[in-house]
Amino acid sequence: SKKIQLVEDTSLPPATKVKIRGCANYHEKRVRVFGWVHRLRQQKENTFIVLRDGSGYLQCFISGKLAQTYDALTLTLESTVEIVGTMKPVPEGKTAPDGHELIADYWKLIHAAPSGDDAFSNKINEHSDPSLLADYRHLVLRGEKAASVLRVRAAMLGAFRTTFEKLGVLEVTPPCMVQTQVEGGATLFKLDYYGQPAFLTQSSQLYLETCLPSLGDVYCVQESFRAENSHTRRHLSEYTHLEAELAFITFDDLMTHIENIICDSVEILLADPVISKLVYQLNPKFQQPKRPFMRLDYRDAIKWLNEHGIKREDENTHEMVDHVVGDDIAEAAERKMTDEIGVPIFLNKFPRELKAFYMKRVPGDEEYTESVDLLMPNVGEIVGGSMRISDMQELLEGYKREGIDPAPYYWFTDQRKYGTCEHGGYGLGVERLLAWLCDRYTVRDCSLYPRWPGRATP
Ligand code: 4AD
Repeated sequence: SKKIQLVEDTSLPPATKVKIRGCANYHEKRVRVFGWVHRLRQQKENTFIVLRDGSGYLQCFISGKLAQTYDALTLTLESTVEIVGTMKPVPEGKTAPDGHELIADYWKLIHAAPSGDDAFSNKINEHSDPSLLADYRHLVLRGEKAASVLRVRAAMLGAFRTTFEKLGVLEVTPPCMVQTQVEGGATLFKLDYYGQPAFLTQSSQLYLETCLPSLGDVYCVQESFRAENSHTRRHLSEYTHLEAELAFITFDDLMTHIENIICDSVEILLADPVISKLVYQLNPKFQQPKRPFMRLDYRDAIKWLNEHGIKREDENTHEMVDHVVGDDIAEAAERKMTDEIGVPIFLNKFPRELKAFYMKRVPGDEEYTESVDLLMPNVGEIVGGSMRISDMQELLEGYKREGIDPAPYYWFTDQRKYGTCEHGGYGLGVERLLAWLCDRYTVRDCSLYPRWPGRATP
């Protein structure tokens, strides 16, 4: 078999070089495809390859002397190959991706992946330890599930952009290296910036606010960084943050806008049959969210938790106790409540002391803020937003209350000096939204290369 040398038959009709996703247009025609051996089944006479090129999966049927070469007999998973042949529907009673297959008349090994101890299937498989899978994320990405999630992710970002464009909200790209905090000093990543202290951004909100008088309503898709000490299934140290800021709106407008952004974008996403199929493969029970979303006042949520026996752990005694107004509703309690209610919830009007320095108070109910978290079944909070303080004096008091030096915020404060306006916005955690949409246990599965405490490789 070492001696068999294959040559391409040049008397056949010319083969068109195609990506696998385009193969459906070439039935009974000759095509040339390139890719990785995703699955491999070798019988005596024949070799079945499921080829993967990132655009799709294609069954290739290799037979006769094509299947008897040294390369064919020693072929391994993840090797790269070139295959030329004719596209045919699969025979009656047989199945293959997209119901067709490539009947090869020529093929060539481009690079042989290792066999034996170093074989791909020995590196990672469904039984691998999670920490090993994290080390081998670059190989995990070759799996169908990981690729499906990333494909849905790309489509989701595209759908968001389409929705924002329809609404006339403009995309901007704020900086990642900053000298102001947004969500509290405890989770800042500090860095040395030419001898000056600086941070990786926690949120682009403050920058978006400065765009309102210039560009009107704006949004961004930007990485945010949080030095979180929480090893939970929904916290990353770096995550993709979709944020928007809107001028001359009310708190009610803000919630309606968030609802529309999510529902319209999901609708756009599901209108694509390829993506819709992926979503329902990953999440067979997925239910499209229905407008309007339930609106639950923070104080009613505390009542609800107590009525349903959902307790919190007392920090000192470690006993499980009832919630009281003023408590930060912890992740576990929030998740139980969200799962039990089973629909998206706008949890709103949090106490002032739980929230950031910039949040507007509820008129006439000043201990509470015009703030809102959107909670989704299975994940919990995926969006955090609020109306912003529009009055300069009040903002200065906000800095003071939180012990923030107002000096580096001069540009943010100036917004209240040169023509202030009622405005509000929000941030959506893209990985959290995907965990909900694709029914993933953790946000780590929804990021290309997730970062969490102790993990920045690969
Ligand atoms: O609630 P957060 O902290 O709000 C802000 O940063 C606001 N400044 C946003 C704004 O109004 N423009 O974060 C917003 C969202 C959360 O709801 C969550 O989905 C996500 O960002 N998020 C995280 N996602 C993954 N890992 C983390 N460590 C996250 N922290 C927040």
